[in-house]
Amino acid sequence: MYKRNILITGGAGFIGSHVVRLFVNKYPEYRIVNLDKLTYAGNLANLRDVEDKPNYRFVKMDICDFEGVMHLMEEEHIDGIIHLAAESHVDRSIKDPFTFARTNVMGTLTLLQSAKLYWESRQEKFEGKLFYHISTDEVYGALDLTHPEGVKPPFSTRASSDHHEAYGEEFFLESTKYNPHSPYSASKASSDHFVRAYHDTYGMPTIVTNCSNNYGPYQFPEKLIPLFINNIRHRKPLPVYGKGENVRDWLFVEDHARAIDVIFHRGKVAETYNIGGFNEWKNIDIVRTLIRTVDRLLGRTEDEDMNLITYVTDRLGHDMRYAIDSRKLQAELGWEPSLQFEEGIEKTVRWYLDHEAWMDNVTSGDYQRYYEDMYKGR
Ligand code: NAD
Ligand code: DAU
Repeated sequence: MYKRNILITGGAGFIGSHVVRLFVNKYPEYRIVNLDKLTYAGNLANLRDVEDKPNYRFVKMDICDFEGVMHLMEEEHIDGIIHLAAESHVDRSIKDPFTFARTNVMGTLTLLQSAKLYWESRQEKFEGKLFYHISTDEVYGALDLTHPEGVKPPFSTRASSDHHEAYGEEFFLESTKYNPHSPYSASKASSDHFVRAYHDTYGMPTIVTNCSNNYGPYQFPEKLIPLFINNIRHRKPLPVYGKGENVRDWLFVEDHARAIDVIFHRGKVAETYNIGGFNEWKNIDIVRTLIRTVDRLLGRTEDEDMNLITYVTDRLGHDMRYAIDSRKLQAELGWEPSLQFEEGIEKTVRWYLDHEAWMDNVTSGDYQRYYEDMYKGR
């Protein structure tokens, strides 16, 4: 008998694997069921260190499989859901929006409906239950670069009035109207609306959080930071979109996982919380920092790889700036980012350089062939 039976979807992905690891290790009294389809982005090698823990179970399943999900909820007596499974890459959504609508919209709806039916069939119904949906700051649209001198790092990773003075009040708040631009953010916005509709219509206990760009170990190397670290290591061109002036707010992935833990346990039902690092960087400044860090750690001459920077055609509809105001979460639940960006980037670059085998497996596609064999016929 476990104290809680929690379903985490997308646990074999980047952020999901950090959430699974945190929950399995921190709460041996909880049963943690990781449901993941193992798309190209899912990799069980991200979870080697917890796969044998007695309170952990992995289930290969599609969140769109209504009967399968229903059966699993009943079998595992699920009373809490942390939903991360999604198609997550903006560039892929531009090429193939249908897959994003299927997984992010229909998949989320399938989970909501299964949870509703299963929980309503129980005597205690929604009591002690929670459907926690992980979403993105991209649903809010894009901000302009308001500062006259442009954006210059580094910023404090604490909510500071200096930051607000420098950039005005131009931040995404929980009350900011949704205005998604890419097929990815449109699909996430739609799923957020469905989650809130299940609360407002059926009284289901839900929480939504919207987080900024995550970075850290186990991120699939299609995303800026791991892709560029790997390319610098192999001295391959670094394709910077447009002029590299776009700004993102970066948060170390373990800080996001800690926020999810805090909100899952102490967040208020029906609320939305923004999660971010108060840590804005122009892409080109990140790229230069990555080059300097990789070169230093590999013992190369300082700045010798700056010539790898290659400006390429911009991403269609490329959002200029994202900036999250996470003061509500900081004030109400006491969470704050633990790492300064310099420290986080150093840790991240070291991790990728030290885990060549993980990176080579992912870039060669070997990790997928291995699991295809393992799950053949299931
Ligand atoms: P990811 O692409 O690394 O992982 C996604 C996981 O979902 C993979 O393991 C994949 O196999 C699984 N998955 C995909 N489709 C599925 C399906 N139909 N059924 C079951 N599993 C499926 O993504 P990530 O970067 O870890 O993002 C996780 C969540 O956090 C997403 O919902 C994303 O929108 C959100 N988010 C991400 C960031 C970020 O910076 N990466 C920031 C804010 C919010
Ligand atoms: O803001 C949160 C979002 O952050 C999450 O919801 C998404 O799931 C996650 O993928 C991320 O989206 P971005 O589009 O911001 O991340 P990405 O790493 O793809 O790109 C970061 C910035 O770098 C963006 O401005 C585009 C630029 N870029 C990206 C790649 C892959 C380049 O200039 N060149 C590249 O090759």
